[in-house]
Amino acid sequence: MASVAIEFEKRTLEWPTEDCTRIPNWVYSDPDNYQRELEKIFYGPFWSFVGLDCEVPNPGDYKRAMVGERPVIIVRDKDNQVNVLLNSCAHRAAEICLDKFGSNRVLTCPYHQWTYDLKGKLMGVPFRKGAKGIGGYPADFDMNANSLKALRVEVVNGAVFATFDHNALPMREYLTDRIYEKFTRVFDGRKLKVLGYQRQRLRGNWKLYPENLKDSYHATLLHVFLISFGLYRMDQKGNLFNDDKTRAHNVVESIATPRDQLKSHDEMKSYKSNYELNDMRPVTPVKEFGDDITIQNLTMFPCLTVQQQQNLLQCRNVIPMGPNEFELSWTFFGYEDDDEEMIQRRTRLANLTGAAGYISVDDNEVFELSASGMLANPDANCVVELGGSSSDSPQAGEMVSESAIRGFYELYREVMYAHPRP
Ligand SMILES: [Fe+2]
Repeated sequence: MASVAIEFEKRTLEWPTEDCTRIPNWVYSDPDNYQRELEKIFYGPFWSFVGLDCEVPNPGDYKRAMVGERPVIIVRDKDNQVNVLLNSCAHRAAEICLDKFGSNRVLTCPYHQWTYDLKGKLMGVPFRKGAKGIGGYPADFDMNANSLKALRVEVVNGAVFATFDHNALPMREYLTDRIYEKFTRVFDGRKLKVLGYQRQRLRGNWKLYPENLKDSYHATLLHVFLISFGLYRMDQKGNLFNDDKTRAHNVVESIATPRDQLKSHDEMKSYKSNYELNDMRPVTPVKEFGDDITIQNLTMFPCLTVQQQQNLLQCRNVIPMGPNEFELSWTFFGYEDDDEEMIQRRTRLANLTGAAGYISVDDNEVFELSASGMLANPDANCVVELGGSSSDSPQAGEMVSESAIRGFYELYREVMYAHPRP
């Protein structure tokens, strides 16, 4: 069949600098730019986190998830393989799975009951041969050409990733060795157990979220709780590094200072030495990973965060919903062999960085402040010059740098506009 070409009006937007020390505000609000992000990033050769394989433990179990704005189904088939299928019937595009979780032998569309097997293959079409011998689909109607679209899937020690691009790099190569090593420090091969979910809608552009996690600068200024209880401060030991290939994946790791050794610091005005908690358990972790790292924040391009905050383990996934809104989807987890005490500890720690945690509430408020400024001033630019102009990882121990945000945009511009790296 011949295709029909349709052209739309062209327009030009401008990035103000050759390097990524400036980010134009329109990047966070322009609807055309957002459409291109969906095509080039979310439906391109990048991996999206869709869930944990322990969420679909048995053949037939399924779960709904999102890749960009496209609903998908994660389903375990009879061969025990985890598939990720587009949740959109090949017939009239209707969503097939409406429940967040479920289990079934087949997947049946509610509209005209087209039925697919657990690998997405079309198995049944009602009235395919017509009614009473009249009508129906043409004799050469190809069932095989009308399967559910299957994404490429990779499961890394229980974490399920999917991409529309079947030529995407394998996850290890995608993350690079250095980031993969940190990823598998948490996803270490032990069986996982989900402890709970949270989700929230935020008014702002999806990129604000990964940027916030790459930004160690704000953590020591904005978060009174972190500073006052010594959980994260600029004057403590830590490292910040980007992957050395794309520069768009990043890790911030740090070691908490015991509270009796904390000092006041002129530039940390929000430090409150007289703050006490009635229950100190949310700030008293146990050592778990064979090192002293108390916070490890890993951001994977485009928008997954894996956080280990003391004994709290979570994936935070960003689901874009237009240029000015996103859903933040939290999965709290532990390991299948956790004892009751550890489960309690992890759950209690969710009071730090959960949707309404002592720390996250600050971020949620400033996203909306940034977003309203960006939306109202599309011609102005953000300044991202802390630590220089490059995306080289800062030297060991240097925590005051925006290099990870610059790294994100170096890849972003290459992917979005074919702009060469600086
Ligand atoms: Fe924050």
